[in-house]
Amino acid sequence: KEMFRQELVNVHGIPLFWTIAEAWSQVEGFEARPDDLLISTYPKSGTTWASEILDLIYNNGDVEKCKRDAIFNRVPFMELIMPGYVNGIKQLEELKSPRLVKTHLPVELLPPSLWKNNCKMIYVARNAKDVAVSYYYFHMMAKMHQEPGTWEEFLEKFMTGKLSFGSWYDHVKGWWEKKKDYRILYLFYEDMKEDPKRELLKILKFLEKDLPEEIVDKILHHTSFKIMKDNPTANYTMITEKEMDHKVSPFMRKGIAGDWKNQFTVAQYERFEKDYNQQMEGTTLKFRDEI
Ligand code: PPS
Repeated sequence: KEMFRQELVNVHGIPLFWTIAEAWSQVEGFEARPDDLLISTYPKSGTTWASEILDLIYNNGDVEKCKRDAIFNRVPFMELIMPGYVNGIKQLEELKSPRLVKTHLPVELLPPSLWKNNCKMIYVARNAKDVAVSYYYFHMMAKMHQEPGTWEEFLEKFMTGKLSFGSWYDHVKGWWEKKKDYRILYLFYEDMKEDPKRELLKILKFLEKDLPEEIVDKILHHTSFKIMKDNPTANYTMITEKEMDHKVSPFMRKGIAGDWKNQFTVAQYERFEKDYNQQMEGTTLKFRDEI
């Protein structure tokens, strides 16, 4: 099996990279610490943005300190195991507390020790159509993923959950339900775009942390799309070219809400919405697909 353009293998019904599936017992056995903060998302929903904000908060807005390393080393991707390239579990073992931990796992696959330790968790959700578009371009540029095929084919896979980390619909609903019983702050990408300060203040309250207003404003400035796009420690250009090709599509691609309008045909939109209403029926979880 190939390390790049990886095949997906089901782990408890969820498609994951075969290298993760193979190392699953290591992921399951991840040892959380009570002061870990988990940043959880379905892929392409604002993980990197939230990670940069949190690292800056943890370092009281010290921008230079947050350039100490690439975002994928400051906030390790827990379950990502690709022998010879990366092992999120090992990276985390070597990190001093308090740790920031990135995951894309659906609730049912989260290592039990994160629940047992009652770790705080921040979930970021983004509207389905923009996630589908962003994930499509990411499949072209990130070489661990399979080639996406045509947009039409990719959209079908998105709607049927046949992508790495499974169904977006089950993911967002699963985490929404868990919030009743655990310390989960559930945020939306569209809210962060609309009023980043309001959302940052929500994060500070959740962390029970106070920062002076000038530090808050400094963090907002350094986590704007424009600044992060040009920051090599945030924009994934420090990863090897074998892993990501930014010439195909940059990791920091557009950073807006509503880009789906440039991608969906009217027919695709109609089919998507009909299916969406069925898959999201009965949940109190509501999204905005433009702002
Ligand atoms: S990953 O690979 O799953 O961790 O990707 P993730 O970071 O979740 O999502 C990448 C998308 O988030 C956009 N992005 C931002 N938007 C607004 N502001 C800031 N600061 C920001 N940083 C990253 C990034 O551009 C991807 O979205 P698209 O729509 O592809 O541009």
